[in-house]
Amino acid sequence: MTAEAGLPDMLRDLPTWTPDPVELADLELVLAGVFRPLTGFLGSFDTAMVIAGGRLADGTPWPVPVTLAVPKELTAHDRLVLQDPEGVPLAVLEVTETWQDPTTQEWRLAGPLEALRSPAHGPFHKLRRRPAEMPPADGPVLAVATRSPLHRKHLGQLRQVAERLGSRVLVLPLLGGRHDESLVRALLGVRKELPDGTEIIPVPLPARGGDPERDVLLHAQVAAAYGATHLLAERETEGTAIPVVVPEPWAYDADVEVWRPVARIEPDHVQAELTPERLGELLDAGDPVPDWFTPPAVAAELALARPPKHSRGITVFFTGLSGSGKSTVARGLADALVERGGRTVTLLDGDVVRRLLSAGLTFSRADRDLNIRRIGFVAAEITKHGGAAICAPIAPYAATRAEVRRMVSAAGDFILVHVATPLEECERRDRKGLYAKARAGLIPEFTGISDPYERPEDADLTLDTSRMTPDEAVGRVLDLLVAGGWVRPE
Ligand code: ADX
Repeated sequence: MTAEAGLPDMLRDLPTWTPDPVELADLELVLAGVFRPLTGFLGSFDTAMVIAGGRLADGTPWPVPVTLAVPKELTAHDRLVLQDPEGVPLAVLEVTETWQDPTTQEWRLAGPLEALRSPAHGPFHKLRRRPAEMPPADGPVLAVATRSPLHRKHLGQLRQVAERLGSRVLVLPLLGGRHDESLVRALLGVRKELPDGTEIIPVPLPARGGDPERDVLLHAQVAAAYGATHLLAERETEGTAIPVVVPEPWAYDADVEVWRPVARIEPDHVQAELTPERLGELLDAGDPVPDWFTPPAVAAELALARPPKHSRGITVFFTGLSGSGKSTVARGLADALVERGGRTVTLLDGDVVRRLLSAGLTFSRADRDLNIRRIGFVAAEITKHGGAAICAPIAPYAATRAEVRRMVSAAGDFILVHVATPLEECERRDRKGLYAKARAGLIPEFTGISDPYERPEDADLTLDTSRMTPDEAVGRVLDLLVAGGWVRPE
């Protein structure tokens, strides 16, 4: 069924729910048959057994809980339509159990899933496969499940093990991170370094932040579903669905300039690994990633995924009381960044945002939060596209500021500047006459007078404009940006 065909009448009256990204990925894998033998979301007993011993209640090995959390209001139904974030119905859940998670107290629904449409969409969806679409196995298949690109060492190890097993190779990029497309491109880019016939099949499997052994068990389960007979992994693990092969250690032989097993290298020719920290520093500085470490196609993807700091997207978020000087400093910073060039600059001033983007919102807590979330959403988009977003709302609540920090950090860098000019000074300035009105009770819920301001404890910089000129304040922010590498020194 296509989305355009609409829901069958009998489903139209069912309640709908949009699962979170991990649950949606699980749903896709259940429906595609990758999570076989699972046919839906697990109930309380299966979940408890899986957590305690890595087995379903019937004894079948299964490494991780696959569950669905819902708000309490949705616990009174026997059937539920699960939809994607755009509201496209994906599956019907036949609820067989409603249960409360004993640790988080969250409500959960269990039961089998019935597919309404194929959820596979998005970039590289043509590379996706259902296990049922795989050609029948004609010999050993070595799978590698990875969240990061394969560098020269991994490629060498993979070729060595594949040769020893006489196997085909199956690369499973695990999606669900910030750089999914980059990861897939980096793997497609090294295809010619992999044995002939290597297949690359992206699998939506966000990291669960759990125990690495359970991860290996899950990866083996997924690889087995795709017909793999062996899994290349960094650690031995008991009870995997298919045998795990741990490659022997490799290193770069600086003498003959190739990667090979450490056992075959003269000890004083072993070149030290490029650590992830060092790699990060190279990318931050815009320096080339050395060719001995990774093929140029991978290096190019790494540089795109983590651009040099001086051209990376950034949000500078000013917070502080009305009249604290946020707008003045933010405007000064915007001008300075425009003058220096290198990035587009967008100023999202509190009062200006409320004229269009947040027109109609009040100063209730809920509306202030919505206002800040809207600013955060726009700032995150600007940051993702490599620009500089400079925000200057009051943003009185710490939790909402933290939410914006999370949103932006998923796309680039975030700097919080607290303009901590004392209330007395803001009130003395009272340029818009609002403090006088607030004191007279004419403006209710006025921040600092009759409404709270939660002072940030996570500010990257604190400025008090009663103790410095606007130019000095802008200078402080610029110094911070230069020191951090986001802006080139003049
Ligand atoms: S926020 O709380 O949602 O971040 P925002 O920065 O958009 O506030 O708007 C603050 C501006 O709105 C102030 O600079 C002031 O000019 C005006 N304003 C009007 N009513 C209030 C109020 N009750 N509290 C704070 N500012 C108000």
